[in-house]
Amino acid sequence: MEARSETRGSYHILTYGCQMNVRDSEILAGIVEGMGYIMTPHLDEADLIIFNTCSVRHSAENKVYGKLGEVARLKRKNPDMIIAVGGCMAQLENVRKRLKKQQVDIVFGTQNLDELPQLIAEHQQSGRNLVKIYEEGDREIADNLPSSRNKGVSAFVNIMYGCNNFCSYCIVPYTRGRERSRQPDHIMAEIRDLLRQGYKEVTLLGQNVNSYGKGLEAGVDFADLLSMVSRIDGIERIRFTTSHPRDMSDKLIDTIAQEPKVCEHIHVAMQAGSNRILQLMNRGYTREHYLERTQRIREKIPGVAISTDIIVGFPGESEEDFQDTLDMVRKVRFDSAFTFMYSVRSGTKAASLDHHLPLEVRRQRLLTLNELQYSIALEINQSLVGSTQEVLVEGWSKTDKGKLSSRTRTNRIVIFSGPETLIGKIINVKIKEATTFSLFGEIMQVD
Ligand code: SAH
Ligand code: SF4
Ligand code: F3S
Repeated sequence: MEARSETRGSYHILTYGCQMNVRDSEILAGIVEGMGYIMTPHLDEADLIIFNTCSVRHSAENKVYGKLGEVARLKRKNPDMIIAVGGCMAQLENVRKRLKKQQVDIVFGTQNLDELPQLIAEHQQSGRNLVKIYEEGDREIADNLPSSRNKGVSAFVNIMYGCNNFCSYCIVPYTRGRERSRQPDHIMAEIRDLLRQGYKEVTLLGQNVNSYGKGLEAGVDFADLLSMVSRIDGIERIRFTTSHPRDMSDKLIDTIAQEPKVCEHIHVAMQAGSNRILQLMNRGYTREHYLERTQRIREKIPGVAISTDIIVGFPGESEEDFQDTLDMVRKVRFDSAFTFMYSVRSGTKAASLDHHLPLEVRRQRLLTLNELQYSIALEINQSLVGSTQEVLVEGWSKTDKGKLSSRTRTNRIVIFSGPETLIGKIINVKIKEATTFSLFGEIMQVD
């Protein structure tokens, strides 16, 4: 009864963008639950709506503007509703100008999550619109924030924040600040706690995990961290994302090969296959380097899956440059790829380059790339039909009602029929069928 009387109302969080935001939304949920808010799945019932936004492409921002319009209509019916906008869009001045006109009550930066309670209280008292962005360099990592994690068997764990790479197309270094690594003992303590709560798998998160540890006194690099996490009692699987090809060291490849808990899946963004474009992108490697690294990964880690990110239609990308990207896709044979049309981000270096390509050219190149990549993914998946795969059962499938969804060590989704009691377990399944994005299997007879 007592707890109920402290209820402030209900909240709803809308999350856009990458795993960093998914993780930040868990923290935001923890923070507002600590204030007495209760989660509602229904937007129109919420007293507090938090947008955790992404700026990586124009389309990501547009989704938010569209939804803000819808929420503004709800606010007309319920004027006490509070609308807060955080995440990467909040960091950008041109976006903040536009948000001012959209009935947004609170804007808070990517390094100001912990200040949300004060902002809400202040807004409730004064009725004023508030903006809180940390702009003087970077704040110390706030490591002990509350968090209400998504339920499941797998959890995200930040190991570093920010990015120093300034790839010429990318807004992330401007929205997330400079690279900062968390202390290894804080990471280890968080993972131990997650295992106590029943999680089986962790995904270590950073924009460039390969440079983990720089600037720390601990003298621990990413390969060392992987070995340390592998030693934690009870951990079943370790994943990480994302790796930068420039910093993919032999030591790291050997560690992934040798540590049985570390899954055989590496996400290493290629972005483009032409050396001229890679240079304009400020990526710091050549196609030859990328090929050499991925070949070494395949040699050292049998059965490894390599996934990637690719951008088509970067300013000045010629037909020949684009053919170089297709050529690399054929050579590396990615298990999966996230493919994007270049999207101009104001304030980045690439925005001021000449020869931006028309939408139609970018769209056509994306279609051509996807067609090639999907055919390769399908071939690889079909080659697995008949094999036995070790999977971690994650829960009920969202697409195949009544079936379970699981993941192989190589990050492939396997759908199969089985009892609920298997959720959270690692079992063997036999693969019966394959499509571009999933596998379908049967439980192996357990005797
Ligand atoms: N730090 C990660 C990438 C984070 S952003 C890494 O470097 O691996 C995720 C992906 O979005 C990038 O890898 C890139 O492929 C894509 N991306 C970033 N900026 C973009 C832009 N301006 N237009 C199109 N795609 C972009
Ligand atoms: Fe963006 Fe490059 Fe940093 Fe990745 S490494 S977040 S693409 S600047
Ligand atoms: Fe988007 Fe920010 Fe992630 S721009 S991709 S939410 S770091």
